[in-house]
Amino acid sequence: MVFPQFRARRIRGSETFRRMVRETTLSVNDLVYPMFSAFGSGIHKEVSSMPGIYQQSIEYIVSEAREVRDLGIPAVLLFGIPECKDAIGSDAYSDTGIIQETIRALKKDVPGLAVITDVCLCEYTDHGHCGLIKDGDVDNDSTLELLAREALSHVQAGADMVAPSDMMDGRVGAIRSMLDKNGYDRIPIMSYAVKYASGYYGPFREAAESTPQFGDRRSYQMDPANRREALREAASDVDEGADIIMVKPGLPYLDILRDLRNGFDLPLAVYNVSGEYSMVKGAAERGWIDEERVVLETMTAFKRAGADIIITYHAKDVARWLAR
Ligand code: PBG
Ligand code: ZN
Repeated sequence: MVFPQFRARRIRGSETFRRMVRETTLSVNDLVYPMFSAFGSGIHKEVSSMPGIYQQSIEYIVSEAREVRDLGIPAVLLFGIPECKDAIGSDAYSDTGIIQETIRALKKDVPGLAVITDVCLCEYTDHGHCGLIKDGDVDNDSTLELLAREALSHVQAGADMVAPSDMMDGRVGAIRSMLDKNGYDRIPIMSYAVKYASGYYGPFREAAESTPQFGDRRSYQMDPANRREALREAASDVDEGADIIMVKPGLPYLDILRDLRNGFDLPLAVYNVSGEYSMVKGAAERGWIDEERVVLETMTAFKRAGADIIITYHAKDVARWLAR
């Protein structure tokens, strides 16, 4: 059929028709809200490059988490800012670590909200890398044991799901077997399966105080130029027992998201990262873009590309806009 028999605009002419033929929908159920839990009390400090996002101590985390739950958002993703950092990231797997204490508070005071934890060492190491340093590089195999201990201690504190973000080879398998051995075979793993070495993480590193003190993360995170490699990374995590796979960052990697949607039938998550958030907030503050419109369009793009779950700092705003 060609013009004039075919007129694409016929089904675009009214909001009713547009609603009827809309291919992609966005729901509050799709959202996960990241939070930064800081050691101490009375802390509620806005991240300068992320307006509306705070480093906060547990009592503030709990009150914001209540708000998140009451907006209908199903889950939060927790990051920790410990009291002390050291070479081996001890706080990450300490029973009294910042995240472990935060999880216990949330499970007690905010029932009905799922607690997912970021499993990585970079927030807890003094050198800021995601694993143990050996001969000037991050050592893969010795890091696995610590990541598995970290995941186990999160789950023992009450975490509902763990999300390893370190990009070590074999960590999904190591975490899965550690959890299973300890009776936690029902706890799912959401793997940051395809995580690129990205400039878009800049504001997060201010928020989580996790900037590497030397070098960068290119020896363990993926090269932004690579597409086929994403399929291999995802396949290995699926084989090791990942329940949900993630692509990160989001907007610059929609092609990768679609590749994974086509190649795998597991639930797929996307991380709309800090730099993506900061750019939108910065432009909106200057009046250069319509924030609501741009954010909802971005969220819809993630769903259209194949995401089931969207991890985003915009989650509370999106929930409010969807509820109107
Ligand atoms: C830790 C981690 C990072 C992010 C999530 N987990 C930062 C990094 O790898 O440097 C980035 C999240 C964001 O930018 O919002 N490994
Ligand atoms: Zn890390």
